[in-house]
Amino acid sequence: MSEERPALVNILMGSKSDWDTMQHAPAMLDDFGVAHECRVLSAHRTPAETADYVSGAEDRGVEVIIAAAGGAAHLAGVCAAHTVLPVLGVPMTGWATDGLDALLATVQMPRGIPVGTLAIGKAGAVNAALLAIAILAGSRPQLRQQIKDYRQAQSEAILAETLD
Ligand code: RP5
Repeated sequence: MSEERPALVNILMGSKSDWDTMQHAPAMLDDFGVAHECRVLSAHRTPAETADYVSGAEDRGVEVIIAAAGGAAHLAGVCAAHTVLPVLGVPMTGWATDGLDALLATVQMPRGIPVGTLAIGKAGAVNAALLAIAILAGSRPQLRQQIKDYRQAQSEAILAETLD
């Protein structure tokens, strides 16, 4: 939990081994001052607890769920099956196919139960947080301004690059 305020974003990952990559999502949410909660919950290894946690998210005031998993990455899809909140999936690099398996498992949702799928690995973790912030910004003008400021700072940093 980032602070005492109720979490607006829940971040789930299938294993603690995903944390090294996924820590970049809560870090970005912290930069924007967005309250969040991170949990290790698995679609396959803790199915009942995962369903309970996600089913209760709306009543806890959560507005976006981020779910990361590798291999047969069903976590984001299972989350989406248990809530109408927007679910953002982040495929993790696995042990055999560099995350392609997780990407396909996360992105190939059946019609009717959407998962917004991000890039594999760190870029996906960072962008899931930024997309969650953009969703929240729909009703929070201050967050929208923070996104504009972030983009401006990013552009200035690129333009200031030198190649020695
Ligand atoms: C997935 O299996 C997890 O999300 C992780 O990416 C992958 C490997 O998990 P561990 O074997 O490291 O626990 O469920």
